[in-house]
Amino acid sequence: MTGLSRRDALTGAAGLAAAALAGGAAAAPSRAPIPYGSAAQIQTFRADPRYRDALKRLCDVIVPMNDLKWEALRHDRARFDFSGADELVDFALKNGQALRGHALLWGMALPPWAKEMASRAEAERELTRHIETVVDRYKGKIATWDVVNEVIAFDPKPGEPYRDTIWQRLLGPGHVEIAFRTAARVDPQARLVLNDFNFEEAGPGVAARRKIALETVRRLKDKGIPIHGVGMQAHLYAENAIDSDGVRSFVADLGKLGVDVEITELDVIDWKLPADTAARDRTAASLVSTYLEAVVSGGQPKAIVTWGLTDRYSWVHDTFPRKDSAKARPLPLDEDYRPKPMMRVLDQYRRGRS
Ligand code: G3I
Repeated sequence: MTGLSRRDALTGAAGLAAAALAGGAAAAPSRAPIPYGSAAQIQTFRADPRYRDALKRLCDVIVPMNDLKWEALRHDRARFDFSGADELVDFALKNGQALRGHALLWGMALPPWAKEMASRAEAERELTRHIETVVDRYKGKIATWDVVNEVIAFDPKPGEPYRDTIWQRLLGPGHVEIAFRTAARVDPQARLVLNDFNFEEAGPGVAARRKIALETVRRLKDKGIPIHGVGMQAHLYAENAIDSDGVRSFVADLGKLGVDVEITELDVIDWKLPADTAARDRTAASLVSTYLEAVVSGGQPKAIVTWGLTDRYSWVHDTFPRKDSAKARPLPLDEDYRPKPMMRVLDQYRRGRS
């Protein structure tokens, strides 16, 4: 089975319900299908026809991996380079797929000139102009924006909720509000998301990060600044356990504030697992299953997006190389685009349960 096509996903639900009833087993609570998607990298998209085919066949949602970042759009201060982003957006629209935009404000992947901004006025002017231009261009095309990415401090200290980025240094904590306010003004229909990582495991640092996300949502809401979701990147470390209770209550607490979650960059970092590939794939699938079960028990996510589709291409290879130089296996398809156990777990959430 090469991963469910979009049409299959929806017809599968009926079969499952019948099986559950025939078995007399207590029917598991029903659950609506959750759109599945992947990040797409332009160089690979242009070079590998199997990559394009898999994106078209398997995804309800597409997110340009790098082409909507400042580094790609603004390598020249005077103009915007939409070449890569336009190509991926057109591909998705042609295939009736939803689009996520990543990311309007991030402290990394900035062009050299942006790293040299020197005043509050300059930073606010450039940030506002950037968001106005990019969001306006894709109005009605990109439904969801990661308005801010990785703004929460990695290991938060009291009174220092946000990461030490050029935006925080020049604009203070208000950089988050400026970004959301501007995006909402330009496209009032767009779904606006705060995207970040490390919400999945146990520990005081992670608990503090969840608290800052909740406080940020509450503050924006109190100020009447639109925010609709929190993106949980979910780069999962296979050697670490999922804090299921923590994840469930985080998602539920966000729900009480009127925002929902989406899984935005799911993959599994297996650099510390024994080399056996079948065992690694089983471990990765069960970790993803444990994580997604915790999320959905807190609230229905808007989408589940993996940070790529096939083990052939992933940032994990360079960033988390294995000591035994065996290749990492972070994604739902193996190097030859064959579905792994992780894909079957994702299919279950995509199908839903009636
Ligand atoms: O496009 C240029 C190319 O013209 C140039 O020849 C080449 C060599 O320098 O670099 C290319 O740009 C690279 C880009 O990926 C496209 O391949 C950048 O150097 C490289 O830094 C960039 O890496 C991306 C990284 O974010 C930084 O933007 C990774 O592919 C991408 O997987 C990674 O994704 C991030 C999410 O955005 C946020 N969360 C964590 C995640 C993993 O780090």
